Amino acid sequence: MSEKWIETRVVENRQWTDALFSLRVGGARLSFQAGQFVRIALDVNGERVARPFSFVNPPDDPVLEFYGIVVPEGPLSPRLAKLAAGDVLYVARNPAGFLVLSELPEAQTLWLVSTGTGIAPFLSILRTEAPWQRFRNVVLVHAVRHARELVYQELISQVKRERRLTYVTFVSREAAPGSLAGRIPAAIRDGRLERTGVALGAESSQVMLCGNPAMLTDVTAALAERGMRKHRRRSPGHITVESFW
Ligand SMILES: Cc1cc2nc3c(=O)[nH]c(=O)nc-3n(C[C@H](O)[C@H](O)[C@H](O)COP(=O)(O)OP(=O)(O)OC[C@H]3O[C@@H](n4cnc5c(N)ncnc54)[C@H](O)[C@@H]3O)c2cc1C
Ligand SMILES: NC(=O)c1ccc[n+]([C@@H]2O[C@H](COP(=O)([O-])OP(=O)(O)OC[C@H]3O[C@@H](n4cnc5c(N)ncnc54)[C@H](OP(=O)(O)O)[C@@H]3O)[C@@H](O)[C@H]2O)c1
Repeated sequence: MSEKWIETRVVENRQWTDALFSLRVGGARLSFQAGQFVRIALDVNGERVARPFSFVNPPDDPVLEFYGIVVPEGPLSPRLAKLAAGDVLYVARNPAGFLVLSELPEAQTLWLVSTGTGIAPFLSILRTEAPWQRFRNVVLVHAVRHARELVYQELISQVKRERRLTYVTFVSREAAPGSLAGRIPAAIRDGRLERTGVALGAESSQVMLCGNPAMLTDVTAALAERGMRKHRRRSPGHITVESFW
């Protein structure tokens, strides 16, 4: 084994649907900030195939958790979905990424906006103290194609019981009671996203976006119409993004 990789063992592979899975692995103590990712890898035909995955677990949890989807033709994700307890998963030693609260300016409201597996880093962030200490309102937005893809309901319910979390879901490809229809950018423009009672604007909000790159572009454009812009260290703004592909 090269020094770059830690050999971990799968503790559990939870199958949410045919395509969605969560891997819990033990045996690696990594130092990272909630919202960051790490490369995980398997050996395929003698070659190590690695991809970045966001941590779902908070930093103080010794068991690492990753949430994934099977991309049918992809080199790694179909193999990850088939792992069973006891199987080896290689995890890199160097977590990274800027989708972290320590990079964000102060604001009243923190918006955590995701599509698909892009909810993963926000599940880590929500289980740390920082969002609740720093923001008056915290809103988690999750958009999926089908209602069965609204995963981690027990965890989100627990956070809602203990904290001031507002949780908004979108289901785009079937009618789903309790979820908004269509896509996030349309709901920003027509005001549906704010019907939860929390305002979305440059004066009040910091927005983190994660998931489908087309969503990042389209939501950033909808927010620009409200005077919001990308946040950069040298030029503070309101939007921090992480693209999954
Ligand atoms: C910083 C970062 C963090 C990431 N974190 C996660 C994570 O927590 N969970 C996760 O499932 N993936 C995550 N990804 C994507 C992941 O690294 C892989 O690309 C994905 O698991 C597919 O791997 P693959 O080798 O099977 O196919 P790849 O060759 O890597 O991807 C093939 C195609 O699949 C599509 N695709 C890739 N990832 C996704 C996805 N997550 N949802 C829908 N379509 C996708 C894209 O069209 C992509 O071009 C992350 C990517 C980045 C850059
Ligand atoms: N193996 C399987 O059985 C299986 C099943 C499903 C998916 N997959 C794989 O996973 C991939 C899709 O993953 P996914 O469903 O998690 O991700 P996704 O395609 O990113 O869709 C998630 C949500 O994001 C929305 N969205 C897409 N583009 C957007 C944009 N420009 N602006 C705003 N919202 C946008 C989608 O709305 P829309 O519905 O309007 O696009 C949907 O509500 C597929 O390409 C496939 O490879 C595999």
